[in-house]
Amino acid sequence: MADHAILAGKRVLLVVAGGIAAYKSLDLIRRLRERGAAVRAVLTEAGARFVTPLSVQALTEDTVYQDLWSLTDESEMGHIRLSREADLLVVAPATANLLARMAAGMADDLAATVLLATDKPVLVAPAMNVRMWQHAATRANMALLESRGVRRIGPNEGVMACNEYGPGRMAEPMEIVDAIAAIFAEDAHRPLAGRRAIVTSGPTHEPIDPVRYIANRSSGKQGHAIAAALAKLGAAVTLVSGPTRLPDPPGCSVAHIETAREMLAACEAALPADIAVCAAAVADWRVDTESDRKLKKDGGGPPALALTENPDILATLSRPGKRRPALVVGFAAETGDVLAYATAKRTRKGCDWIVANDVSPGTGTFGGSDNTVHLIRADGVESWPTMPKDAVAARLAEAVAGYFAGK
Ligand code: CTP
Repeated sequence: MADHAILAGKRVLLVVAGGIAAYKSLDLIRRLRERGAAVRAVLTEAGARFVTPLSVQALTEDTVYQDLWSLTDESEMGHIRLSREADLLVVAPATANLLARMAAGMADDLAATVLLATDKPVLVAPAMNVRMWQHAATRANMALLESRGVRRIGPNEGVMACNEYGPGRMAEPMEIVDAIAAIFAEDAHRPLAGRRAIVTSGPTHEPIDPVRYIANRSSGKQGHAIAAALAKLGAAVTLVSGPTRLPDPPGCSVAHIETAREMLAACEAALPADIAVCAAAVADWRVDTESDRKLKKDGGGPPALALTENPDILATLSRPGKRRPALVVGFAAETGDVLAYATAKRTRKGCDWIVANDVSPGTGTFGGSDNTVHLIRADGVESWPTMPKDAVAARLAEAVAGYFAGK
């Protein structure tokens, strides 16, 4: 159980949407206040049908906000202030409707507007009928919100008010209190605050002509997860990303590039930095002379593509000099003799650490969610168990923080 002492003096903005579980939110307010947190509440129109503004007001000992247009200080951007004056936004219960409106970025009532305007962490406690929770639309909305950094607690499995059984019950108030305390604790753990990091991620696209390019199967999942993990520990992260299908990770500034040369330029523009992690699968070669017209079948057989080598971003960033980041980390994607090749790569590229992984067909690493890696440093190799790419990223970020501890 998380240490609740951290809740003292924290300001929680609680959004209560319309669901039968809203009655539990009254208890949540009490539990938070018992632990010294200040709670301010926003009720949606439907929320106010399940709990009365009067009981919420009595428990929060604060004004209850309901209407986007009735804030006396709307001229002073009341909804912006509401979200900025909180340390954390909690949506409990989070209905399918409100999750959908959040995912779509709507601002059609006070609750949605506050959630759109906030720059604070957001925790949702979904509560709805099991079919609604399992519907592809809700799954997609929830996944999108989580990819943007929204945290979730529950729903729990059990008998629901509608007599169906399954996941859909809102987490219990004390579980929500625990989750809130855990978020505050996590957010207080910022060992990389004040450090700057550059992370490369994804493939590069090297144009052949205006419609064709050379690319590879990198999804960018690992690199994006590392950028997010370093940012979570407080680093100011510039993510230099090739074309991927991933949303920009929360808390990072992102440079979107296509080619290896653009990636190098964006990395150099982000210097100076303390940390560089090169997780991108940079195309080793590009076409020597890119055609400015689409190559046509002209009866003379296929064109011969002359290739030329791309700049090595990792090796360039690792070069000794005033602007070299203190810690440069490379990746080694190998399909055999992983440790031997990766150890040699560390020396050849001049970086400090190599994260080595086996990307042989069948391992599912490229594009998959899991990764099995070895962390190779000057003084030895650590082999990590197979884990989700997010967990690899979190562990690597902690290792980076360990490196800088006391420096
Ligand atoms: N890398 C880079 N720029 C390049 C090529 C690779 O920054 N032009 C970086 C990758 O981001 C990764 C590391 O170098 O961190 C190793 O990439 P990998 O493709 O495994 O190595 P290669 O340099 O291609 O070496 P080899 O061909 O021997 O596998």
